[in-house]
Amino acid sequence: MDKNFRRTVIAGNWKMNMTPTAAAAFIKELAPMVADADCDVVLCVPAIDIPAAVAAAEGTNIHIGAENVHFAESGAYTGEISADMLVDAGVEYVIIGHSERRQYFAETDETVNARTKAALAKNLKAIVCVGETLTQREQGITAETVSLQTKIALLGVSAEDMKNVIIAYEPVWAIGTGKTATSDQADEVCGIIRDVIAGLYGECVAKATTIQYGGSMNAKNAEELLSKVNVDGGLIGGASLKTADFTVIVKNG
Ligand code: 13P
Repeated sequence: MDKNFRRTVIAGNWKMNMTPTAAAAFIKELAPMVADADCDVVLCVPAIDIPAAVAAAEGTNIHIGAENVHFAESGAYTGEISADMLVDAGVEYVIIGHSERRQYFAETDETVNARTKAALAKNLKAIVCVGETLTQREQGITAETVSLQTKIALLGVSAEDMKNVIIAYEPVWAIGTGKTATSDQADEVCGIIRDVIAGLYGECVAKATTIQYGGSMNAKNAEELLSKVNVDGGLIGGASLKTADFTVIVKNG
């Protein structure tokens, strides 16, 4: 497999951090630091930060993403945000099915699939998260778990739409814990996901799909993780809240 077939995408996931004011200041500081990046640079920000983030990123190579999208076009879903709203606000990427959404907000493989299709229908780039829990890893069902999550997330997604799909492999046990998957573990599971995509869409689509690793990626371990053939970028939580650390990761992308 040749990495040249696909884009490397380094994306921050701010989670529930940063006010709109802080977001604008952060992006203004970050922009010159990552201006010469070889990879795609994305910041996925809280919904309320989106207008400030889009304005601050204008004219830079920083792309703005959201952290979730609802599956309906519009309607009686208090507190939710539609794909049309994100697009109109200048958002290009959206994280779907993060393990924190699955764990705390009853997100299921089926709703992940519905949200993915809703995002793709509006030409958003969907960063679809999959990953096993510690129990599942210990039970020896990592491959089965991520394969199932990937297959269900992509039900009804066309080969053509796969150009707007990024899969983020985020082992739940590595998120915010300081425990990173080894680069070999990350490479192995990203490779399993690529095989699933090859089974669904063929080798060409599999070769062209960006598969990120996420889970305690930081300025120290990014180079090693990103050197792996199946790891095409990162989805970064904590380290995306510090301009210097995030810049180091981007430079390795
Ligand atoms: P950390 O980088 O803080 O472990 O978070 C990873 C993550 O959940 C990104 O979506």
